[in-house]
Amino acid sequence: MSEAAEWKRQAAREALSQVESGMTLGIGTGSTAEAFIRLLAEKVSAGLKIVGVPTSERSAALCRELGVPLTTLDETPELDLAVDGADEADGALRLIKGGGGALLREKIVAAAAGRMVVIADEAKLVETLGAFPLPVEVNGFGVTATYLAVEKAASLLGLTGALTLRQEGGRPFITDGGHLIIDASFGRIPDPEALSIALHAVPGVVEHGLFIGLASSLVLAGPGGVRRLER
Ligand code: 5RP
Repeated sequence: MSEAAEWKRQAAREALSQVESGMTLGIGTGSTAEAFIRLLAEKVSAGLKIVGVPTSERSAALCRELGVPLTTLDETPELDLAVDGADEADGALRLIKGGGGALLREKIVAAAAGRMVVIADEAKLVETLGAFPLPVEVNGFGVTATYLAVEKAASLLGLTGALTLRQEGGRPFITDGGHLIIDASFGRIPDPEALSIALHAVPGVVEHGLFIGLASSLVLAGPGGVRRLER
């Protein structure tokens, strides 16, 4: 196992220590979340009683394969705990998510959870968000108009940079919700709250990858071990 994979596993193990029998869980997406699902599955086969709401078809498939019991957010609209990865996090536990394209379901699930624990390797902690391109999920109708409106909304905040329509296999990437993703390379986002409000005001934007006020705890693993930041 690579060092990075081991750190993801360590962060996942720390989050798992917060899971108790009887809990309802939001289950994230991405390689770190997958490390969590694998450890969770071991506990489930050893008798842990939980039920999970997956944040993507990909995570749902892995849970099914490993025997992690699943439900839907409609059946279980209030969750005890959501565990998910992140592309970037700052010291105020504001996040950029959506590198794996699951940001919409991830945000809905995080908002439905009493607590969100974010698991990541140390390299994801940054001073200022924005080196990782911000995913913006948009409706396919009028995507060029939405693209221009996103560009304008960002530029009014002094944010410029390339906006690209995410591709996969030579075609536009389609999310689990049937939408497209624009990745916005702003470089630095000094005021994530203002950008969040500005993006939500653009018709055609379904959701964006800035997670503000959602994470309650950030578990970071790296060469120095595992540590937690709390909000
Ligand atoms: C998916 C996400 C992931 O949590 C994020 O991309 C981090 O992934 P990884 O754990 O593979 O680095 O937001 O939409």
